[in-house]
Amino acid sequence: MTRIAVYPGSFDPVTKGHADLITRSLVFVDRVIVGVAVNSAKQPLFGTDERVALLREAVAHPAVEIQAFEGLLVEFARRVGATVILRGLRAVADFEYEFQMALMNRQLEPALETVFLVPAFDLTYLSSSLVREVARFGGDVSQLVHPAVVRALKKKFAK
Ligand code: PNS
Repeated sequence: MTRIAVYPGSFDPVTKGHADLITRSLVFVDRVIVGVAVNSAKQPLFGTDERVALLREAVAHPAVEIQAFEGLLVEFARRVGATVILRGLRAVADFEYEFQMALMNRQLEPALETVFLVPAFDLTYLSSSLVREVARFGGDVSQLVHPAVVRALKKKFAK
């Protein structure tokens, strides 16, 4: 039996924290489908196609597929045959939101299990929003994201 997980998120943009989590998950799942949420409530810096393309460059692995999805995560998971939802837990601050989402998703689809992974210690503080903010003001984010993302951020914020 092939164990498939979905790893959903905004990925605006993908960071080394996301890539680390995907690598860790491949210890216990056979395939990871990264789901890039199209209709996130947030107004993203990068469009859906840009976020998907950056993920494809940053996370090139034969067991990992990148797809955009619209609508409910549980529907997307059902479509791709996933039995697991992956999410990262960085700090206590993440917990309430993640717990709420996990319980709501279970309510919607009891057969789908949410699994939380702890990121690498040195990536714990990392978030896409911080990366965007630092890059916006010309700070160096090259240790935190793939070179393709560094280039994309520079282009986005070029005056
Ligand atoms: O990276 P993010 O922004 O924290 O990811 C949030 C995401 C995309 C996982 C969440 O908003 C989501 O699942 N959106 C799809 C719509 C949905 O199913 N909403 C109900 C979740 S309980």
